[in-house]
Amino acid sequence: MGIRILVLVYWLIGVGYSFLLDDVCSTGNVCSCSQHGIDCDGKGLTEVPAFNISGHPIDISLILLKNNTISILKNNAFSSLQGHVNSMLYMVISHNNISVMEDTCFKGLEDKIFRLDLESNNLHAIPMAITSLNRLSELSLMFNPIQVLDINILSRLGHTLSTFKLTLEQFQRWPSGFRYIFGLDSLFISKYNSTSIKISDFHYMANMHLRTLAISNSPLEEFPVGICDINELTHLDISKNSFTDRTKEFFDVCHTPQRNLIFLFMQSNHFGVFPDIGKTFPAIRILDFSDNNLNYISGELTPMPALENLVLSSNNLVHFPSALSTLAPNVQTIYLSRNKIVDIGNADLMTFSHLENVFFDHNPLEYLAASSFVRNTVLHQIDLSDTKLLTVPCALMSLSYHSISAYLYDNTLECDCRMSCLSHINLSKISFTGHPQCTQPNISVTDFITNVIQANACATK
Ligand SMILES: *[C@@H]1O[C@H](CO)[C@@H](O)[C@H](O)[C@H]1NC(C)=O
Ligand SMILES: *[C@@H]1O[C@H](CO)[C@@H](O)[C@H](O)[C@H]1NC(C)=O
Ligand SMILES: *[C@@H]1O[C@H](CO)[C@@H](O)[C@H](O)[C@H]1NC(C)=O
Ligand SMILES: *[C@@H]1O[C@H](CO)[C@@H](O)[C@H](O)[C@H]1NC(C)=O
Ligand SMILES: *[C@@H]1O[C@H](CO)[C@@H](O)[C@H](O)[C@H]1NC(C)=O
Ligand SMILES: *[C@@H]1O[C@H](CO)[C@@H](O)[C@H](O)[C@H]1NC(C)=O
Repeated sequence: MGIRILVLVYWLIGVGYSFLLDDVCSTGNVCSCSQHGIDCDGKGLTEVPAFNISGHPIDISLILLKNNTISILKNNAFSSLQGHVNSMLYMVISHNNISVMEDTCFKGLEDKIFRLDLESNNLHAIPMAITSLNRLSELSLMFNPIQVLDINILSRLGHTLSTFKLTLEQFQRWPSGFRYIFGLDSLFISKYNSTSIKISDFHYMANMHLRTLAISNSPLEEFPVGICDINELTHLDISKNSFTDRTKEFFDVCHTPQRNLIFLFMQSNHFGVFPDIGKTFPAIRILDFSDNNLNYISGELTPMPALENLVLSSNNLVHFPSALSTLAPNVQTIYLSRNKIVDIGNADLMTFSHLENVFFDHNPLEYLAASSFVRNTVLHQIDLSDTKLLTVPCALMSLSYHSISAYLYDNTLECDCRMSCLSHINLSKISFTGHPQCTQPNISVTDFITNVIQANACATK
């Protein structure tokens, strides 16, 4: 599970960081207060409270006002904070009902706020008030019913903004206004309301210096060709769209390889075929292709020698995709959770000498060949939870020369002398996670191995 977090960590940075709540200052109201932040989340506030923090030498760097019902940010709303705020203030006012932000609502904090989260509010346009923030670097307006992108406002934000998150639910054409945010490094778009993006609308994007682009949670059916020309792109997210490609040529619209791209998120589409990703993105390291309709992977694809993390969970794979041995020879982590894999043969994992983590959980897996892991000398995490394995597989024996975690949640295991193959397993190196229990006899797997197998009870029978 740790690796899933690793895959997602990039996207989660920014969602929030926590701080120690410690009532060292009084806000004179329902909020709690610490050395670094004020927390007013979910306090039923209908407006920004007046903070009474006079006399307390604090240096606030975080203000949380999430999940209230504030509908207007009035002029001078934050003036009670003046003098107490760090020059790098992160303000979160997401999940409110803000439709109006008066022009001087940030008075006193104009040169302090560097990150502003206004997700899930009721804004129809980018408020002029935001242009007063002359050091704003990250702005999220995700899940607001934005209808217009005012060029004047965008060009004023353009001086400082590097990350911009936005919902384009009301846009059927790609807005031309992004070109005014010339310093943008990361653009996250959700709910763009069209099945395609015309190259003529998107053309200027190539002149920006975007390194991260997400166009997700949209009904796109065709890969936006213009993305091929954004040469500095390192992260591309086209997840949760409606791509259905049935051929491997999906990315062939890009005529030259994109050598900078390392993260590619394609999950939650309807891909029936694994595209030739290595041809277009030769440097790819992390690929999420989960939640698609894959039932095999062709062997005739370009290898991805740099691929480290491969997520193929929630597809329709019936066998381990043997093409991976040439396609992803250096892979360290493979997720195959929630497929339809019935067996793993001795040859399936043989070639992966860098494999550290493999996830087979939630498959109808009945058979795991005894020598499956003999060549995976650095494997240290294997998930076999919720499979149809009837007993603890002998394959784990070959791993007991180094420390390994074997996840065995929710299996129905019969323990008997078939497990004699595990007689030399070193139980201080292998940890069975998920408290695996034998149904017959009713004892833990570890106890069975120690008290029956390793006590030679089988041999003497
Ligand atoms: C939002 O705040 C209310 C209290 O006003 C609380 O009961 C609820 O759990 C909060 N919701 C979330 C998602 O934090
Ligand atoms: C602010 O807090 C101080 C001390 O906590 C208190 O003496 C003062 O009356 C408060 N002011 C207001 C306006 O609440
Ligand atoms: C949100 O604001 C609108 C006005 O913009 C108002 O009609 C609506 O009642 C508010 N909703 C809540 C839950 O406060
Ligand atoms: C999305 O576009 C369609 C027309 O293609 C339109 O009927 C629909 O109202 C749009 N959705 C929103 C939320 O604007
Ligand atoms: C089992 O592993 C532990 C911890 O690595 C080690 O100290 C011990 O010597 C091993 N026992 C055998 C029999 O190899
Ligand atoms: C198995 O043993 C545990 C206690 O070790 C007991 O709580 C549980 O009910 C037993 N299950 C069956 C099916 O006998």
